Amino acid sequence: MQFEYFNPTQLVFGAGSLVRLGKLAQQYGQRALIVTGGGSVKRNGTFDRAVKSLTDAGVAVFECDGVEPNPRITSVKRGADLARAHQCDLIIALGGGSTMDAAKVMAAAALYEGDPWDMIIHGQPDPYVPTQALPLITVPTLAATGSEMNCGAVISNEDTKEKSFIHNACLFPKVALLDPELTLSVPKDQTAYGVCDLITHITESYLNGATNTPIQDRFAESVILTAMEYGVKAIADGSDLEARSQVQWAATLALNGWVNSGSGGAGFPVHMIEHTISAYHDITHAVGLAIVNPAWMRFATRQNPRKFVQFAERIFGLTAKNPDDVDCALAGIDRFEAFLKSIGCPTRLSEVGINDGLLETYAKETLRIIHDENGNLPAKPAMTEADIIAVLRAAL
Ligand code: NZQ
Ligand code: ZN
Repeated sequence: MQFEYFNPTQLVFGAGSLVRLGKLAQQYGQRALIVTGGGSVKRNGTFDRAVKSLTDAGVAVFECDGVEPNPRITSVKRGADLARAHQCDLIIALGGGSTMDAAKVMAAAALYEGDPWDMIIHGQPDPYVPTQALPLITVPTLAATGSEMNCGAVISNEDTKEKSFIHNACLFPKVALLDPELTLSVPKDQTAYGVCDLITHITESYLNGATNTPIQDRFAESVILTAMEYGVKAIADGSDLEARSQVQWAATLALNGWVNSGSGGAGFPVHMIEHTISAYHDITHAVGLAIVNPAWMRFATRQNPRKFVQFAERIFGLTAKNPDDVDCALAGIDRFEAFLKSIGCPTRLSEVGINDGLLETYAKETLRIIHDENGNLPAKPAMTEADIIAVLRAAL
């Protein structure tokens, strides 16, 4: 198998490392736009500590607050306007994946005269491909997306009911500053959703049909097992810094390109379907994943059971009768769904108030935004419109 790995982001990890923000920022700019979400960083003191570190290092601070979960293109435009108005030469994201994603696109949009929605892949014939962005530093306060150390961002357009992505090397953060202490205040539900999100980032590549990837498989299993073990501890006791640290490292590793190098090329079908659901219903990303992933697994395992059997054996300790033992594979998926439930994730559309009224629309929209040359959703196996509807029906 041929693959490339590229990740230029400097990773700084450790409890208490927020104090280093100013010195790190100083290397990239003197006028920083600090981007935040709905106020958690103000309430828990993180914002003030970040500003102090920056001003102590001589970096002027301007603010863009109020980025919403499932960040909107309107917030991206507002932030890009603020960056231009204050002549910022650096963007700092202080928050969860939504804040980091919005900040990433702001960094490119600040240097682009057109509409930043042009950059988001949403079925347009000729998406704008940015080649430059302001330098960006990410400081995640929630362990979940891995956005801190990758070049992807997911943005919603509330007017058109679309949620989709950009993936571009110019969006790699210069530095990802990971201080697990900043995640101690994350409530139980968001902690659990973060665990679900990071595990799904792994399963999207691990279960995509690639074979002969023993090193990647064992990395993947290590991240899943660690996230499950320490995720449960972090949910039980949010002040457990050791558990928070392990979960945060797992989240970053799950989507910084390393674990899925050589096995992640088939597409992210669960994410693509989930994005459409949250575009229509503004549900929490990982809630949508917890609903779609087990249903997708049951669909995919019948055509491609081997890796699912391995998943059942190595993650849940089940014993297969043979390498293609579909019953064992399905039992592993049942155990996975039970784990998601046990940490508090809904696993059915009906639990979040979604019925079967728009299943066809969700499938068509997912395929309009991303499809292969045959018009199907890139995945192994590739998914037709009928397949997507069947998976969603199974998830009702
Ligand atoms: O907005 P604030 O007030 O900060 O509160 C947030 C928000 O309500 C809260 N929170 C964050 N840190 C906290 C905290 N509360 C207390 N203490 C803290 N330390 O948590 C809530 C959720 O935040 P959000 O940023 O929305 O969550 P998450 O990190 O899960 O990000 C989800 C977004 O990332 C996208 C998703 O689609 C979704 O839009 N994704 C981005 C990816 C990427 N760039 O690589 C990949 C992912 O698959 C995902 O699609
Ligand atoms: Zn995700």
